[in-house]
Amino acid sequence: MIEIRNLSKHFGDVKALKNINLSVQQGEFFGLLGPNGAGKTTTVNILSTLLKPDDGSVTLNGLDLLSDPRGAKRLLGVVPQELALYEELSAADNLHFWGKLYGMQGNSLKARIRHLLEFMGLNDRGNDRLTTFSGGMKRRVNLAVALLHDPVILFLDEPTVGIDVQSRHRIYEILGKLHQQDKTIVYTTHYLEEIERLCERVAIIDQGEIKAEGTLDSLRQLIQGDSEVLVMLDDISLKTAPADPLPAGVRLTDEGLLGSGDDVNDLVQKLVTICSARGWNIRDIELKSASLETVFLQLTGKELRD
Ligand SMILES: Nc1ncnc2c1ncn2[C@@H]1O[C@H](COP(=O)(O)OP(=O)(O)OP(=O)(O)O)[C@@H](O)[C@H]1O
Ligand SMILES: [Mg+2]
Repeated sequence: MIEIRNLSKHFGDVKALKNINLSVQQGEFFGLLGPNGAGKTTTVNILSTLLKPDDGSVTLNGLDLLSDPRGAKRLLGVVPQELALYEELSAADNLHFWGKLYGMQGNSLKARIRHLLEFMGLNDRGNDRLTTFSGGMKRRVNLAVALLHDPVILFLDEPTVGIDVQSRHRIYEILGKLHQQDKTIVYTTHYLEEIERLCERVAIIDQGEIKAEGTLDSLRQLIQGDSEVLVMLDDISLKTAPADPLPAGVRLTDEGLLGSGDDVNDLVQKLVTICSARGWNIRDIELKSASLETVFLQLTGKELRD
């Protein structure tokens, strides 16, 4: 459905994308996970024809995006990272404006707007100006704009940043419905829980490179050890890293000491030994399957934002 081959893009000295290769299947919910400046927006901008790559090719449903951007635009809808809305206009008028830009008009546009406002749970607010909307409501209008021409592919660039948890959940519900409608979705985020909740496959991007790609399970298997053990500690002040370093595969988290390895018994013993050597009181011991966070940390050597 979406084939990205050897995609590169630079801005001056910055290599924003370095030879990216990705395939997304029809109807798939695909996540692009990466920290600040990883190249997520650059990727989405190229995929949505806003930006031309230096090198490489993209096909959507077999259609070459670079040679036929107008054809590509009919297939895709994009929800940009920054809201593209007129605050002084009502939600319906914003949709009307964008619909006309897409070449839609008359009763079919009106019917489409009514349907989308309803789909977004905004039908009673359609005639209110966006200045009166919450951040989450504006995000839903932004999403409605992307869906006006009923595209089969949807690109979403961090569509839940800066909104509260409840509003996020409303967007997840809407995205779940779109997934059921067999839309092909590419979703960028730096929130791991969104990837775990929404996505069937994920690529981890950092400094313009794809570090890993696959299902969540296959990514978890990439890292050493299949399981993780968390030793919860009594005193949260112990969170500060100790002067002498912890052994490989062991680190301190918000809750306690986390270790990964393939033998759970060995692992528990190792962690308990570390705790007793340091005089740390153990509150509880929990067995976990390796988290995507650990995968991310191992692949990129850095934490995601907040
Ligand atoms: N128009 C531009 N001019 C110069 N540099 C740019 C431009 N757009 C992006 N960059 C640089 O390219 C790199 C990738 O940026 P991009 O916006 O794609 O990252 P991102 O993953 O979307 O980050 P964020 O999570 O902050 O949105 C960064 O180093 C960025 O500074
Ligand atoms: Mg971005």
